[in-house]
Amino acid sequence: MSATNGDTEGPLNRADEVKDLLTAITDLIVPFVAAADQDAATKHTGQGLRVEGGVPRTALVEHLPPKKLEGILQSELEITEHAAGRDGLVALVESVLKYSVNTWDQGFLDKLYASTNAVGLVSELLLATLNTNVHVYQVSPVLTLVEKRTTKYLASLFNLPAATSGGISQPGGSASNSTAIVIARNTLYPETKTEGNGTYKFTIFTSAHGHYSVEKAANLFGLGSKNVISVPVDDAGRIIPADFERLVKESKARGETPLLLNATAGTTVHGSFDPFAELAPICARHNLWFHIDGSWGGPVIFSHAHAATRLAGAELADSITINPHKMLGVPVTCSFLLGKDMNLFYRALTLPAGYLFHIAPGASVDDIYDLADLTPQCGRRADSLKFFLALRYYGSEYFSKLVANGFDNAEYLLALLKANGNFVTISPEPLPCLQVCFYYAKGGLLGDDAEANGKATADIANKLISRGFMIDFAPGEKGKFFRVVVNGNTRKGTLDGLVKAIEETAQDL
Ligand SMILES: Cc1ncc(COP(=O)(O)O)c(C=O)c1O
Repeated sequence: MSATNGDTEGPLNRADEVKDLLTAITDLIVPFVAAADQDAATKHTGQGLRVEGGVPRTALVEHLPPKKLEGILQSELEITEHAAGRDGLVALVESVLKYSVNTWDQGFLDKLYASTNAVGLVSELLLATLNTNVHVYQVSPVLTLVEKRTTKYLASLFNLPAATSGGISQPGGSASNSTAIVIARNTLYPETKTEGNGTYKFTIFTSAHGHYSVEKAANLFGLGSKNVISVPVDDAGRIIPADFERLVKESKARGETPLLLNATAGTTVHGSFDPFAELAPICARHNLWFHIDGSWGGPVIFSHAHAATRLAGAELADSITINPHKMLGVPVTCSFLLGKDMNLFYRALTLPAGYLFHIAPGASVDDIYDLADLTPQCGRRADSLKFFLALRYYGSEYFSKLVANGFDNAEYLLALLKANGNFVTISPEPLPCLQVCFYYAKGGLLGDDAEANGKATADIANKLISRGFMIDFAPGEKGKFFRVVVNGNTRKGTLDGLVKAIEETAQDL
């Protein structure tokens, strides 16, 4: 009991608890990152550093089948009425780190994202400390300004119209693409915002190599995934413009309403960029919304040399998705939907719930700071802060070099595979993006048995994990093939080691 200031409830002491837990967890996280750093030194040998574990493992991961891992973690995964407390928490975090994939490891070349970095960690900590929401300015004044500034900056990189362009943060590339579809529909057919699709039978066009999020959005919004029309691609994986226009005309002739083209900047498997400058006029002729899914390849905009050919015409888009959480090392998730005219975003999505938004009637979009009214979400994470802090910490020049280095690494790997004689590469050339796709084939002779080829690919990929390399594969005409995704921080020695590891593993099969 306090006699002097009337406080009878005692001190909170939360700051001490934060300091204590943070120190304990930092003592586990730093060695986790350091292990990946140490491992990097041996990667060129094709065998990451062995570390202690139940099965042969490196710093990358101790990878176990789900049921086995469930058995090992049985007590850790138990939720009871008893508090695990500080020691229990520390032990749990140790297990999480031990059995999780260490994406800081150079050998993690499996997905379209890789590890974050020191500023990425700091930004996540900052967001958790603030634990707020960028739905309205009142509760997140600085974060709201950061989101507006970051999206405007990105829109300017793409040369979208300076006066009206901008963007919104979205919880991922799939969400950004979905939101573009709704904005397109509510803009081009405004009555659908309140009346629903009515008698319209909307069709959406996307590359035969496009991401599945477009079909998923059609499922979600009552458009039906059958009404997503797949447009053929050429040998380089790019939409064939004449085929696109033909399919639009055929759709119209069936009495349908072509709504949107989802062109792709960096397809998921091969990394291809559609010919935007040729597609934009077709969209304009037939009144389609021109969206670019740049979830993966959008960040190429940072490298003038690589963007010049790949992203030419992107400035003509109505909307563009870009995910800094993939190529740029910003923590997952960080995604933006950029638009050429934010007034359209506002009109299409506003639902002025008076208990949340306090926007003056008739406000121009520049004066709107309650950003959730421009988005499908209510509560929103301030993911833009993560990219903004990285931009400020490194400077934008860093990202230009990171992207260019990624391309350099991809070309290096391609050249290694071609010079080797035991691989068949199937990526378009010059490489459109940072993926390299290939088969292992002794003497360069790939058999016609797709099942056997696919089994060899999958078996090698699985065995590579215990050597400290994680790569993925995708289905192809001649069976599953490897898809390796490099990034701007991948070292050449890692790629030398990967090729060595694949050859040695294949010989042991
Ligand atoms: C081309 C493309 N679009 C969209 C997505 C989906 O992005 P997200 O995983 O952020 O939802 C991906 C994911 O890999 C992608 O490759």
